[in-house]
Amino acid sequence: MILPKPIKLKVERYIGGLSQFRKIDNPIKLSANESALGPSPKAIQAFEKDKDKIFKYPESESSSLREVLSEKFNIDPKRIICGSGSDQIFDLTCHLFLEPGDEVIVTEFGFIMHRIYASLHKATVILAKEKNFKASVDEILKKVTNKTKIIFIANPNNPTGTYLTKNEMLNLRKKLRSDILMVVDDAYFEFLNSDDFTSGLELFKDAANVLVTRTFSKIYGLAGLRLGWGYCSEEIIDAMYQIKPPFNVNRAALAAGVEAIKDNEWTKRAIEHNTLWAKKIFSILEENKIVANEPTANFFLINFDKTKINSDEAFEKLANKRLILRKMEQYKIPNSLRLTIGNEQANEHFIQAIGTIIK
Ligand SMILES: Cc1ncc(COP(=O)(O)O)c(C=O)c1O
Repeated sequence: MILPKPIKLKVERYIGGLSQFRKIDNPIKLSANESALGPSPKAIQAFEKDKDKIFKYPESESSSLREVLSEKFNIDPKRIICGSGSDQIFDLTCHLFLEPGDEVIVTEFGFIMHRIYASLHKATVILAKEKNFKASVDEILKKVTNKTKIIFIANPNNPTGTYLTKNEMLNLRKKLRSDILMVVDDAYFEFLNSDDFTSGLELFKDAANVLVTRTFSKIYGLAGLRLGWGYCSEEIIDAMYQIKPPFNVNRAALAAGVEAIKDNEWTKRAIEHNTLWAKKIFSILEENKIVANEPTANFFLINFDKTKINSDEAFEKLANKRLILRKMEQYKIPNSLRLTIGNEQANEHFIQAIGTIIK
């Protein structure tokens, strides 16, 4: 009997951060860059209040959320599209722009979902070299051909925690052909407060050839509800509406998302928590000769070349102390792990543990 056969796609699978490892009792998950403080209590309230209505479809165009986003960021609601995670925005973007033979440029250690969606939509993925784990405008430009359709850049980038400055970003856009779509993934921008950095949205609000994505999974603590959004020209966003699934954002995500965006106090608290702990953890890492990126986001890429134990040993030893970090094999970053900044308890526990295992 001949059975139905799916098309064989040559696409690597995403490996998510582990929540559990060898049945650890009470594991502390520091492997997925989730929020340390969780969502705003107002978002939780809205989520709970909506539960009697889950038999009803959600808004098909996320209008209530687009309205509050438009107010908060002073942007045009017609140029916003919401998605089931920013993941879905990457997917829709690739769907809209890519045909077999097209090329998509990502950087060597750029966020892996960008390249996965490009491959899923049958484009050829071109890797631009990084310098010291930082994207390089020159290396990206070297890779441009007449087949280049999209370039993806997360700024700051996960997992490297490095970023391109405002001037580098503007320079990149200026030197790229105008018909190449530049996708700027702003997933972690809230955590980065540096004079030479400006978020993708602020830099490219008025550009018709830059698509900016944002997520509710990080600072807003709503990773489990799957919510993100994209901002681009009205023409491109309109084309995305045409291909998106009719009810792509669920009710709970919309209800919670609206309140999360409005709760500026909570967002401020989450940023302050991260800034404080990023500084503390960074100095502890330094003390222990673990090399890390400067604090830019809610995680560190940590390297064990200068310590007595390597990253695999460190992973095991930390796991024995209930701490689960992210291995960097999928990213092909040697002798390194990624550590998410957690809540106070988790961070204290990590600081204590790292001191004992490195000695
Ligand atoms: C750079 C970057 N972009 C996007 C995402 C995913 O966001 P979402 O949960 O909105 O799909 C992540 C999640 O880790 C990320 O690191």
